[in-house]
Order: sequence, then structure tokens, then C-alpha cells
Amino acid sequence: MDLGLSPEQREIQGLAREFAVAEIDPHAAAWDRERTFPRELFARLGELGLMGVCVPEEYGGAGADFIAYVLVLEELSRADAGVGVTVAVHTSAATLPLLMFGSEAQRRRFVPPLARGETIGAFALTEPGSGSDAAALRTRAERLPDGAGWRIDGGKQWITNGAAAGTILLFARSDPAQRGARGISAFVLDAEHVQVARHTEKLGLNSSSTVDLVVDGAEVAADRLLHEEGRGFAVAMATLDGGRIGIAAQAVGIARAAFELARDYALQREQFGRRIAEFQAIQWKLADMATEIDAARLLTLRAAWRRQQGLSHTAEGAQAKLFASAVAQRQTSEAIQILGGYGYTKEFPAERYYRDAKVTEIYEGTSEIQRLVIARELLGLRERSEP
Ligand code: CAA
Repeated sequence: MDLGLSPEQREIQGLAREFAVAEIDPHAAAWDRERTFPRELFARLGELGLMGVCVPEEYGGAGADFIAYVLVLEELSRADAGVGVTVAVHTSAATLPLLMFGSEAQRRRFVPPLARGETIGAFALTEPGSGSDAAALRTRAERLPDGAGWRIDGGKQWITNGAAAGTILLFARSDPAQRGARGISAFVLDAEHVQVARHTEKLGLNSSSTVDLVVDGAEVAADRLLHEEGRGFAVAMATLDGGRIGIAAQAVGIARAAFELARDYALQREQFGRRIAEFQAIQWKLADMATEIDAARLLTLRAAWRRQQGLSHTAEGAQAKLFASAVAQRQTSEAIQILGGYGYTKEFPAERYYRDAKVTEIYEGTSEIQRLVIARELLGLRERSEP
């Protein structure tokens, strides 16, 4: 599909594609089977500039734009969706909010090691009692005497990259008198401030690391507060506005992997004396798959373009994620159907794509939450203050 990409965007897309074919494809099945988080891979992605694609060069990044970044996520996720989510959370949910909301001192301190891939980033919002209702979080941040900083206590659940991260963006209630979204602040923690309580076993995305974290009275200096006290929820929401575009790109990558597998299989598998690609039933499936994947990619690129232009992208990002995740879910199932019995076995990666696709309808906001976000923006029933 000709997307009118710039030479730089094409170059980065090509770099990610070549890397994925050479360095990820040969290992993805084993990483899935053995639940391996390929830590070393991220250092290599960092050397290529792919851990900070859309971070300005002066902060250690590749200096490309957000569109180039989502193209990279599609390529990585096509090969291994676990690698895709690791890079997506690291970039959109940890590095970019630090750039957007950090003081100049925080940006200079935390962003370059993240952008170069020397440190991995995580985003710790979810708790056992606070998933879709993110504002219900209970992790507590108490001021230390004389403004010396903060003491943080609580637990976070299902934190992508949590065990590997050197920099963790963590949300805590700094004013218990305020219920809901008000009274939440964002903090920048190091690995030593948190303990890994549990590694989560998942249906798919086995090459990504997902853990529960405990923060047990960690004391952090005042300069670990990100943005203004009490404005952390808006930081989280603005972060997710961009993060959801990355998950949409991940879903497009998974759907494309399923399509390419099913297409290639249909062109060589023979039944009833013909290649099954010659049967109209299979042709229609492949035609629908290709059409829906293109539509999902275009929605994703529209949202990415709006973000790059500094335009509002709350609804567009949610639309892209809502649609692309449903496409990934449907198309991975169709790929199994085209492969028939082989699709249900571990001989082909169709079943991995199917397991990996499901979570795109859940994390960074379920499809139900995306519909809520889209409807709120469409109907304009709520006033929204700037973060
Ligand atoms: N940008 C900036 N500010 C925003 C905003 C946005 N997009 N959306 C809301 N806000 C602000 C509002 O202006 C409001 O601020 P004021 O009080 O100053 O006016 C405040 O945030 C509260 O807004 P709401 O009243 O709309 O909040 P709510 O409690 O009704 O919740 C919600 C809104 C959309 C349901 C939200 O809770 C939500 O997005 N839930 C889903 C959580 C989620 O996506 N979790 C993902 C976890 S991370 C993850 O999955 C990473 C991974 O591993 C892949």
C-alpha cells in the first residue's frame, strides 16, 4: 500500500523490517514456547535507534516522527507481538511522557538512557482493584517532612516490562482527601524502588515480561514528581491517548502476520486437485483480511499524523485501537480457519498470532473503554481541562 511516506519514514520502516526478519523471526516460536524475554534484543534495537525512534536526537533518540515510530511497531509486532509491546510501552508510555511532562532536568536525566535502549521503561498505573476504573488506584504517596520528597507504598498489577525496567512511571494518590482522578500524582522511580512480587502467566505475548510490583515505603526525592502534584491522572490519560495508537499498530502487525501466513499457505496447499487459493471461499476470506488490515493501518496512521501535528487525537487513537484490535482478533481466527487442522497445531504460528491478538482488545483500555472515550469526544458532553 503506497502511504505517501517520506524517504526517512521508509528508511526506518525498512530498517525495522530487515531487523525483524533477520533477528526476530527465527526465534519468535522458541521465545513463545519457553516464555523468554529477549533482554539482549532491546540493546541491539537501541543501537539501531529503534528504542527511541520519535525522540529528538538531543535527548538520545533517532529524531524521527511518530509516524515512523508506529511503522516500526507494526514491523516488530508482525514478527513478535511481545517484542512489539515491550517497545511500545517503553516508548509511548514511559519515554514520551517524560519528554512531554518532565522538567528540563528530568528530561536530561531520564530520557537519553531510555532512548538509547540502555534502560527499559515501564508504566505502572493498574492495580488489583483499579483496571478500567484507573482513578480508583490506592497506591499512596505521602510527603516526607520539610519537603524532602515522598514515601510511596502500594502494589501495581500486570506491569509490562516491570521486571526489566530501570525507569518506572508510577501513579499514586498524593492527596487522600481527594477521591477519584483528583489527588493522583505521577512519579519517576528506579528499579531499586520496587520489588517484583509475581511474574504473570499469560495466554500469549510470552516474550514480553508482565509482573506485579510492590512499592514498600520507597523514599524518593522531590524531583521524582513528574508534572504538577495532583495532575498525575491527566498525565496518565494523555499518555494513553498516544499509547493506544501504538497498540493499534501492534494489532495491525499481528493481523498482517496472520494474513501473510494464510495467503502463502493458500497458494501452496492443494485439496480437490487444486491450490486452495483457487477456491472462492478462500479468496473472499483473503480479500476481506487484506481490506480490513489496510483500513486498520489507515486509521492508525491518521491518529499518528494528528499526534505528530499536535492536534487532538484522543478519539482517533481510541478508534484506531478499537478497530485494529478487532481486526487482529478476527483475522487471526480466519488464518487458523484457512490453515485448517494445521492452523490449530504448533507447527505453524497461526495459533500464536491468535493468542497474542486477544490482549490488544484489553490492555491500554478495553474495547468497551475505547467506545466510552470515543463517545465522550463525539458527543462533547464533558468539559476537559488541559493536563
Ligand atoms: N487527556 C488529558 N486529560 C484527560 C483525558 C485525556 N485524554 N481524559 C481525561 N482527562 C482528565 C479530565 O480532564 C479530568 O481532569 P479534571 O478533573 O481536571 O477535569 C480527569 O482526567 C478525570 O477524567 P474523567 O472524569 O473522564 O475520568 P474517569 O474516572 O471518568 O475515567 C476513563 C476515564 C477513560 C474510564 C479512564 O479511567 C481510562 O482510560 N480507563 C482505562 C485505563 C487504561 O487504559 N489502563 C491501561 C493500563 S496501561 C497498559 O495497559 C499498558 C500495557 O501494559 C500495554
